[in-house]
Amino acid sequence: MARILITSAIPYINGIKHLGNLVGSQLPADLYARYNRARGNEVLFLCATDEHGTPAELAAAKAGKPVADYCAEMWQVQKDLSDGFRLSFDMFGRSSSPQNHALTQHFAGRLADAGLIEEVSEKQVFSNADGRFLPDRYIEGTCPNCGYERARGDQCENCTKQLDPTDLIDARSAISGSTDLEVRDTKHLYLKQSQLRSKLSDWIASKHDWPILTTSIAKKWLNDGDGLQDRGITRDLDWGIPVKRGDEDWPGMEGKVFYVWFDAPIEYIASAKEWTDAAGRPDADWQRWWRTDIGADDVRYVQFMGKDNVPFHTLSFPATIMGSGEPWKLVDYIKSFNYLNYDGGQFSTSQGRGVFMDQALEILPSDYWRWWLLSHAPESSDSEFTWEAFQQDVNKDLADVLGNFVSRITKFSRAKWGEVVPEGGEFGPEEAALIDDLTARVRAYESHMEAMEVRKSAAELRAIWVLGNEYLQSVAPWTVFKTNPHRAAAIARLSLNLVRLYAVLSAPFVPDAAVTMLDAMNTKDDSWPDDVKTALSALPAGHAFTVPDVLFVKIQDEDRDIWADRFSGERS
Ligand code: MF3
Ligand code: ZN
Repeated sequence: MARILITSAIPYINGIKHLGNLVGSQLPADLYARYNRARGNEVLFLCATDEHGTPAELAAAKAGKPVADYCAEMWQVQKDLSDGFRLSFDMFGRSSSPQNHALTQHFAGRLADAGLIEEVSEKQVFSNADGRFLPDRYIEGTCPNCGYERARGDQCENCTKQLDPTDLIDARSAISGSTDLEVRDTKHLYLKQSQLRSKLSDWIASKHDWPILTTSIAKKWLNDGDGLQDRGITRDLDWGIPVKRGDEDWPGMEGKVFYVWFDAPIEYIASAKEWTDAAGRPDADWQRWWRTDIGADDVRYVQFMGKDNVPFHTLSFPATIMGSGEPWKLVDYIKSFNYLNYDGGQFSTSQGRGVFMDQALEILPSDYWRWWLLSHAPESSDSEFTWEAFQQDVNKDLADVLGNFVSRITKFSRAKWGEVVPEGGEFGPEEAALIDDLTARVRAYESHMEAMEVRKSAAELRAIWVLGNEYLQSVAPWTVFKTNPHRAAAIARLSLNLVRLYAVLSAPFVPDAAVTMLDAMNTKDDSWPDDVKTALSALPAGHAFTVPDVLFVKIQDEDRDIWADRFSGERS
């Protein structure tokens, strides 16, 4: 049994995430967590809200609420939505937790002790119109790297370059739009990442199996030298983790907080402590996942994230961990994603363009979204959501293939033998061929899932569903029944077992349908088919079952058109 630590990039607290955000980290992370649990591995799956920084302050101000209240409310909203999408986090924590405060201050202290922190008097943008310093996202301007006109003070969304606010060309205040800005002196802490350059570079070079998307971004920033410039890790904000050196005050840093990108990844660790603290369990229980000196050396740690997050996970966070000189677990594999676009453009929060997590669940159950999004995960390139594709794929894969198989065989069996698995009859060459085909495909499915090849896994699962339909179509038990009812019984017995097998294999993608299928088959046996033939005899003759309600209702043209119109962002 392996031990797998899984984290998803922690979503910003400000507002509800769209489906592009969901498929870029949380959803594939959940797929992998569910799969590994099903294989009997020990999994710890962590996520949280990313609550500090200017986006949270801006959103709270807009909502007219104290930022702490705003964050507490939005945490609950995001938690409920993650439950709605069946994201099976062991802990959904908060980066504002006391645990993260303590751990972030601890890391800063260790880095300072190691001589990796420098106090720098720097120039910062002050807005005369707003009467305050403008850090990070309070400033917008043109990216010096690619020319994108709406780059933010911390990063250019377009080319992923990490920026400092003073790098921006034609900078303006994001609060007032004012360009009446001046540069003033203020003191900040810098993490001397450049001293860790060769360590980081060796570490990344050793990761031969990482996706190209991950290593190419990491190497780009390493080799440009850009990504490893010493980085400011403090900000002039009220909301955040107060700058301290471990437990002690940090002279000259009064009133400042750590930069959100310094404390957010540390929440990966802190959320594990939140998890055991909430259950009143000892620190050793979370440390065995995170401390290589006490048990985490045999943990495999996998992170999921969108491509814009890669520099922070390949360089900044590892620099924090390596620089601490303590035996914290480093990531073993980084699965990164491109972007999902929406109907010919980008998802846009400000324009209300695209489907957001709350709206998606108002329209259809989560399995529909999980299946479509995962089977179109933006792995090798950006991918696109269109209502036509969504309708067509969901109707075909879920309703015509999986749903149809389940409904056909359960209804046929009930009509001929009642609601019990029928006895009698023999398996022939058709069943042997089916078992061979299934075995090959199940093994391929496993290897794609283990490799986190999300689209390939979905394609293999779909092919496994298709095999059942094709089998049923070709052996036609409804015809056979007239001349050879025993043979028809053997076919039905195998097919009813296939429903259970499908439930087990499909659960990581469509967990609710899987529960419905297992319930209908009146079994709690969700064991993985290490041997397909054995798995297909789990439900013996005489075992009672029921016909489930329709698993997937088809999406009608009319609904599709209404939804396409509603989410176009053309009206607000
Ligand atoms: N909140 C960030 C985003 O949505 C991700 C933070 S991931 C962590 O892009 F590493 F900082 F935790
Ligand atoms: Zn740019």
